Amino acid sequence: MAQAQISDTQDDARLTPQGTGTPSAQCFSIAPMLDWTDRHCRYFHRLMTSQTLLYTEMVTTGAIIHGKGDYLGYSEQEHPISLQLGGSNPADLARCAKLAAERGYDEINLNVGCPSDRVQNGRFGACLMGEPALVADCVKAMRDVVDIPVTVKTRIGIDDQDSYEFLQAFIEQVRDAGCDTFIVHARKAWLSGLSPRENREIPPLDYPRVYKVKQDYANLTIALNGGVTSLEQTLEHLQHLDGVMMGREAYQNPYLLAQVDNLLFGQNNAVPSRHEVVRMMLPYMEQELAKGNYLSHMTRHMLGLFQNMQGARAWRRHLSENACKQGAGIQVVLDAMAKVPEFPQIEAVE
Ligand SMILES: Cc1cc2nc3c(=O)[nH]c(=O)nc-3n(C[C@H](O)[C@H](O)[C@H](O)COP(=O)(O)O)c2cc1C
Repeated sequence: MAQAQISDTQDDARLTPQGTGTPSAQCFSIAPMLDWTDRHCRYFHRLMTSQTLLYTEMVTTGAIIHGKGDYLGYSEQEHPISLQLGGSNPADLARCAKLAAERGYDEINLNVGCPSDRVQNGRFGACLMGEPALVADCVKAMRDVVDIPVTVKTRIGIDDQDSYEFLQAFIEQVRDAGCDTFIVHARKAWLSGLSPRENREIPPLDYPRVYKVKQDYANLTIALNGGVTSLEQTLEHLQHLDGVMMGREAYQNPYLLAQVDNLLFGQNNAVPSRHEVVRMMLPYMEQELAKGNYLSHMTRHMLGLFQNMQGARAWRRHLSENACKQGAGIQVVLDAMAKVPEFPQIEAVE
């Protein structure tokens, strides 16, 4: 089993590349994902891992400053939590960072990696890699008003600006403005011609380039993102880096998070079963339903919980067909769970 293999290779030294003896806060995080890592999703993920750093979806400064909703809302249980901001106006970013710090966020992260047209029109996201002086101003403006870390999520390059020297120049300028933590998506972004989805798949991954950043800037905290699909791979990367940020795999196969605290953060916690995770989610769901929120807005993040287990398809189907019905309550979840054998949980390829 995967679990046993991981245990055999576990080695504390791997988790602390700088020899500090303490895993970095960045050691393992779940990526910001628009429409996916909303507060229901983060609450659900937190039930399986107490240590993982959770990122919000990207929230634009415009939404926070001019929007009508509360874009900074989250549950206390979600800590440690980082707010990812999208924007490029230093004063606006500073204003939003201050609001977020007052609300108790643990970190502010600036998005310098998203390639969508909408984001480019707003002059933020990945296109900011081409404007390192502006990114430096943004970081400095935020650092001046908050005490929590200000980090940057970036790519290894954009368009034809994809040399190592280009990445170095970006990192140095932003570092000099006070950013000491970079999360690097190990592929470049094409700013035109590729959709955001294609930009997460087509440009090739270049892990050695991210390792080199850590080698050359040992004092910076460097986390790698892109294409990581298991905790075994995470452990390998942690031999070279301070952290790994996992995106799609953590969302689609969330139960892998149940092993993270013990394997990556050196904890010795009891690991809840998948059924226990669902049961732990029920009081939260009831609370949210009572506030008028929809069941499907929560259950949509849980569809992958039983991935590869006998009954996984029935679980997914029952939730997909019933959680969206008017008045759907937690009985839908109990009925879906009853379709998955609890003892023993059997792996099955469906
Ligand atoms: C649905 C979706 C939404 C995303 N939204 C964001 C976002 O808001 N901010 C961001 O920096 N990256 C966003 N990303 C990119 C991820 O954070 C991550 O960089 C990318 O998926 C690569 O990591 P992975 O291979 O582990 O998924 C998104 C990715 C997906 C799949």
